[in-house]
Amino acid sequence: MTDIPSDSRRFRIQKVSRNFFLHIHAPRVNLRSLKFTTTFGLGVALAFLFLILILTGVLLMLYYTPSVGQAYTSVKDIVYVVKGGRYLRNLHRWAAHGMVILAFLHLIRTFFTGAYLKGRTLNWIIGVAMLLVTLFLSFSGYLLPWDQLAFWAVTIGSNIAASARELTDALGMTHLFDPGGFVKKLLIGDEVVGQEALTRFYMLHIIFLPLTLLVLMGVHFWRIRKDGGLVRPEGDNTQDIHTWPTALWAELAVLAVTCAVLMAAAFFFDAPLKELANPLLPENPAKSPWYFLGIQELVSFSAFAGGIIIPLLFVAFLVSIPFRDREDTHCGVWFSGAAGKRVILESLIFSGAMTIGILFFQLNFGWLGDWFAGIPQLLIIFVNPGTVLAAAFVVWSFYIRRRTGSAHHAAMALFTCALVGLIIFTFVGVWFRGPDWEFFWLRSHWPVQ
Ligand code: HEM
Repeated sequence: MTDIPSDSRRFRIQKVSRNFFLHIHAPRVNLRSLKFTTTFGLGVALAFLFLILILTGVLLMLYYTPSVGQAYTSVKDIVYVVKGGRYLRNLHRWAAHGMVILAFLHLIRTFFTGAYLKGRTLNWIIGVAMLLVTLFLSFSGYLLPWDQLAFWAVTIGSNIAASARELTDALGMTHLFDPGGFVKKLLIGDEVVGQEALTRFYMLHIIFLPLTLLVLMGVHFWRIRKDGGLVRPEGDNTQDIHTWPTALWAELAVLAVTCAVLMAAAFFFDAPLKELANPLLPENPAKSPWYFLGIQELVSFSAFAGGIIIPLLFVAFLVSIPFRDREDTHCGVWFSGAAGKRVILESLIFSGAMTIGILFFQLNFGWLGDWFAGIPQLLIIFVNPGTVLAAAFVVWSFYIRRRTGSAHHAAMALFTCALVGLIIFTFVGVWFRGPDWEFFWLRSHWPVQ
């Protein structure tokens, strides 16, 4: 920094501290953080997508009417009557899907660079909360067009929310204590999806969840500053440079690419809009949005285990990672070097084989309920392909812990397994499930209905 005359230095620092937009940055940034392969620009692209969603969302709000009688026609008007409305809706829809995808990719990048280490626990937990809010924000928007797709996806989603009933039913106590029914009622305000649900989802979608995400995002960015910028390997001595203008150019480049990809997607692909919602005509198969199809697959084994136990365990695992793994020596190093890469590769093979194996087994030979008539439902809740798989992943991660003596490697093993399981189940849910949730290799094999 000695090569910069002090006047120029002061000017650049003042530029950052006086300007609101620049103020979320520290005046200086490490060159390593600007390297593309450090972050792939994912966090910044996420923030831009969120801004685009707010902008396009406010414009859509001008035409949209959140009532069961008018929602569908108002969306049709947006698509077919309003000038540029179809494009606007496409932008909003694909930006929302983009956010879900990028939030997972950003989670993967921060995890595999050990970015939760070295005092970054709080920001990691805020990140987990942001992922959940992002998913829920997207899901709440799904209902608004009030078409068949929306109606049945949200019906499935709200049934997943009520899945504690499987346990209370099995214990014969739902009439006394019904937490599943309570959560469902809280979510959709009724036993079935209707005006109550639409009003709640609309309020969640346009006010509560975006504001929550905005606040969390503010804290997330503030924490990055407080934590001394992005995580770096120990002993790294890459130099710092002034944030203005280099970092801003890098961020503008990410913005340009994000906008270009989104605009192309919105130009070439139309957001779906099916027939008007008809509560009397169920879609078969009725599928939740793609990012919940992994859970829906688990729910098909057991509602309580798949809809509540396993997702809660997954979130608890994510939150607990920085408390269990405090091996700061791994921070900032992709996959924590050669030994870590080996653990990941082994975990990929193990979890891939286990997940496909258990699916294959269940599809071909059935499960407890098919073999023993009248078997208690309680047993199926706790012993089904989903819980067996989750247990196998946990055992695997204990084995890695014993073998390597490293909590970091054990966390990487479990994270990899969970991710592989989630991806395979989601893939099966999206592509291979047809009417009555039967398995079909191709859509053309579906029976004519
Ligand atoms: C959903 C909206 C999110 C937005 C807009 C967002 C934004 C950002 C940005 C701009 C950065 C700095 C640049 C980068 O790392 O790419 C960052 C860093 C970080 N994010 Fe996020 N993030 C989000 C979600 C998450 C999630 C789901 C997690 C993980 C659970 C997470 C954990 C972190 C951590 C730990 C850092 C610090 C990285 C480091 O020190 O290298 N974030 N985030």
